[in-house]
Amino acid sequence: MTSMLNVEPDIKLYDLHPPLDDFRAEVLNGLTRLQKSISPKFLYDKRGAELFDAICTLDEYYLTRTEVAILRTYASAIAELIGDGVLIEFGSGSSQKVRILLDAMSHLPTYVALDISKQHLQDSCRNLVNAYPGLETIAICTDYTQPLQLPVIPSIQNKHHVAFFPGSSIGNLQPEEAVQFLKNTVSLLHPNGSLLIGVDLKKSKDILEPAYDDAKGISAAFALNLLVHINRELGADFNLDQFGYRSFYNPVGRIEMYIISLADQVVRLNGIEIPFWKGETLRTEYSYKYSIEEFQTIAIASGFKPRTVWTDSQQLFSVHYLDLC
Ligand code: AVJ
Repeated sequence: MTSMLNVEPDIKLYDLHPPLDDFRAEVLNGLTRLQKSISPKFLYDKRGAELFDAICTLDEYYLTRTEVAILRTYASAIAELIGDGVLIEFGSGSSQKVRILLDAMSHLPTYVALDISKQHLQDSCRNLVNAYPGLETIAICTDYTQPLQLPVIPSIQNKHHVAFFPGSSIGNLQPEEAVQFLKNTVSLLHPNGSLLIGVDLKKSKDILEPAYDDAKGISAAFALNLLVHINRELGADFNLDQFGYRSFYNPVGRIEMYIISLADQVVRLNGIEIPFWKGETLRTEYSYKYSIEEFQTIAIASGFKPRTVWTDSQQLFSVHYLDLC
């Protein structure tokens, strides 16, 4: 069901958020598998979104500052490619990166922000509209990993649509899932549109591994907060003292992140008993890394045509601009 609530004059909010039942079903499903796993989208409750913002400022987490530097360096070229279009951000978070683009634009585009965290979405869109008065902002609370249609909004019909997917969030998906997601993006952008996407590059594990297991323990707190979220929303009884965090680089090309049980124990959820043995893992995330060519191959298979790619001087991170075929 779609509901449109006009919370502020310049912001239209559409709440397409999936019901709690979906969260419960996905968690139960993920916890009753041989390799326990839960989708990373559930990491982003209010606290999770705050912890992720904290990760982005860590010394070890080179991704955010490097991508920001690339966007700043090439902002005017990017702004020209976007033109007077519609900018659609997937997983808008605190909507900081889009400001770099807006600052470089002579005409403000319409901004469509998609995020699963409603609170975060509302707060960040309000801040954005305060900073850019007159920016037409459409906030859609949704799980953007599912196929999606934009609401019919007259002001965005027939304009150049540019999907903005920064942060290497595509890395959470397995390559086949990434192709499916990009194909969904092709349908969303059809008939004419472009994709501006940040993709973390392959590099030494000496740089990769600390980025996902930092000295302050914020990466660990971020993963473990998933259990707090499940306890609160679904009434489970995870004992936070009995779980830890592990991550490592798998040379197939991805960081793997896990919550690990520190004891033999049983957790209750919905009257169901979920056993954990000491050392058993629950996967919270994959974070895939791609060379420029590997990502372009995936994008081409999905219906995009690579146009430009920018990187930093150390080749840590890439920002691709692609058009629909
Ligand atoms: C939001 C998926 C891009 O993989 O770098 C960071 C998530 N998890 N540290 C990443 C994350 C732990 C992040 N993405």
